[in-house]
Amino acid sequence: MINKKECQRRRKRLMDMIGSDSIAILPTSSVYIRNRDVEFPFRPDSDFFYLTAYPEPEAVAVLIPDRVEGEYILFCRESDAEMETWHGRRAGLEGALDLYDADDAFPIEDMDDILPGLIEGHERIFYNMGNDQNFDQRVLSWVKQIRGKSRAGVVAPDEFISLNHFLHDMRLYKSRHEIKLMRQAAKISSGAHKRVMQYCKPGMHEFQLEAELVHEFMQNGARAAAYPSIVGSGENGCILHYTENRDEIDDGDLLLIDAGAEYQGYASDITRTFPANGKFSTAQRQAYDLVLASQLAAIEQVKPGNHWNDPHDAAVRVLTEGMIELGILKGDVDELINDQTYTKYYMHRTGHWIGMDVHDVGDYKLDGEWRMLEAGMVLTVEPGLYMPAGTKGLPKKWWNIGIRIEDDVLVTKDGYEVLSKHAPKTADEIEELMTNVA
Ligand code: GLY
Ligand code: MN
Ligand code: MN
Repeated sequence: MINKKECQRRRKRLMDMIGSDSIAILPTSSVYIRNRDVEFPFRPDSDFFYLTAYPEPEAVAVLIPDRVEGEYILFCRESDAEMETWHGRRAGLEGALDLYDADDAFPIEDMDDILPGLIEGHERIFYNMGNDQNFDQRVLSWVKQIRGKSRAGVVAPDEFISLNHFLHDMRLYKSRHEIKLMRQAAKISSGAHKRVMQYCKPGMHEFQLEAELVHEFMQNGARAAAYPSIVGSGENGCILHYTENRDEIDDGDLLLIDAGAEYQGYASDITRTFPANGKFSTAQRQAYDLVLASQLAAIEQVKPGNHWNDPHDAAVRVLTEGMIELGILKGDVDELINDQTYTKYYMHRTGHWIGMDVHDVGDYKLDGEWRMLEAGMVLTVEPGLYMPAGTKGLPKKWWNIGIRIEDDVLVTKDGYEVLSKHAPKTADEIEELMTNVA
């Protein structure tokens, strides 16, 4: 569903910020070849889609504040009966105007002829360099062309500015509509994690669990995962970004599943860890309860006014104290934190922004200081412990225990809302769900 009003508001806000001496140019993503004659599924660029909701490839949005003939111009594919018979429907130029609210629409093939004329007279170009070298070259060639006319009194831009500062700050604060979509993305993914817990049996292969995730995503209208699903059993759970998903699952293994659906352009990112046979061993449960305690402590730090790093600091402290108690680490808690000894078993950070991109945009520091959390921001909270077999100094009972617990958390006016709350999380809840399978 296109949220026209919201896109319109976003374009207006961005144009107010860049000012009338400026022009903004935003191409969507390219189509990438997977192998001979086969393309990867197309996914629009998030910045572009945030402002346009236009879903087709080969499109460039141009924003020109205060342009009398219209401020929003879309270069896109024209309707073409034959191409549409082969490759699918196109909105065409008419659709760009009617469905997507462009003030003007031109064929993408005509961009080299038309765009330099639109850039002329503007002092600044807002454009993100470095994403696509070919497009960077084209933008530079348009400017060069305009500079060639400077003796005729034509004003050529002499400043290139990244859009990130304005646009990514806008994207960091989610609107009510965006939060609704993210809640739905997290709900679908929670259902998928539940489904897998109920389906899993020792002797299955990891890819069979991945198939169950995809099934649940698609049945609920999420056509893609927000990132490649991680289904790691036993020692594979200790590989942070394991995606081969091809091993047989052994009795006694833990399963670490990090998987989230993308729903109407918005990501979810959930990790759950559970015993393949439905019952945690003593060591597995001790380690699990520790990671869970650290995650709950981190989530408690999510509230307006706290800093970005507060949840991470809380998780690290609980994990380090717990590792000492369990005999995994030896020494003084403050020292083990200060000299980062804990990173032997917890080597990543506790979260990231999430939104249209799973690792979403937005600065984590402002003027060198950790950013303050504010209502409308959404972040993940995902501490873990990874203890592969053979780790020097690690007692054998902990070998191949890899645990991560990850939720998507919205900062609210006075605290937080866990968007992924429907995914079972305590050891008891998980065991209960896994024993009561028909
Ligand atoms: N799924 C990638 C991450 O958790 O950041
Ligand atoms: Mn994550
Ligand atoms: Mn994840």
